[in-house]
Amino acid sequence: MPIWQTLSTKFQNLKDHFRPSVYRKIGGRKKISLIVDRFYFIMQNDPLARDCLLTHPHPDQLEIPAEKLKDFLSGWLGGPQLFMQKYGHPRMRMRHMKFPISTAAREQWLYCMRKSLEENQVPGSIKSEMMRALEDLSGIIQNRP
Ligand code: HEM
Repeated sequence: MPIWQTLSTKFQNLKDHFRPSVYRKIGGRKKISLIVDRFYFIMQNDPLARDCLLTHPHPDQLEIPAEKLKDFLSGWLGGPQLFMQKYGHPRMRMRHMKFPISTAAREQWLYCMRKSLEENQVPGSIKSEMMRALEDLSGIIQNRP
């Protein structure tokens, strides 16, 4: 990792220490990792998430998207901006344009995330705050009726 990236991550961690973010309140990288792994497990195994799963080009190989989602959520929740450092500006709508994302797929994505937050015992107030923000963001990402 280049030195400027290491310094920037260290600075972010320091800022984090003094200004509790959702990232810290939720339990940092370890918890985000558990949430995302469970999220994709649900997507792969719950028939109610089928449209969402089949939107993925390789529904049986979700390790890379999982890593990217962990990095994205890290920065989005106020922790280290890992996605930005590795891949540039998130521009989530643009990055999803090559996948047909319908209302059903979007609702199923949110369903998997809500279920994962519940199964990971994320406190109600944080869960509501996150879900509200994810509903908004996924509305921007949806690109089909
Ligand atoms: C707030 C909601 C969402 C967030 C934060 C999110 C986040 C991400 C991230 C970080 C990636 C990796 C991007 C990259 O490859 O550079 C990704 C990929 C992807 N997302 Fe989403 N996403 C959201 C909603 C959705 C929805 C509603 C769908 C519907 C099915 C979806 C389907 C996909 C697909 C198909 C990929 C590509 C996976 C692959 O390459 O195998 N996403 N998403």
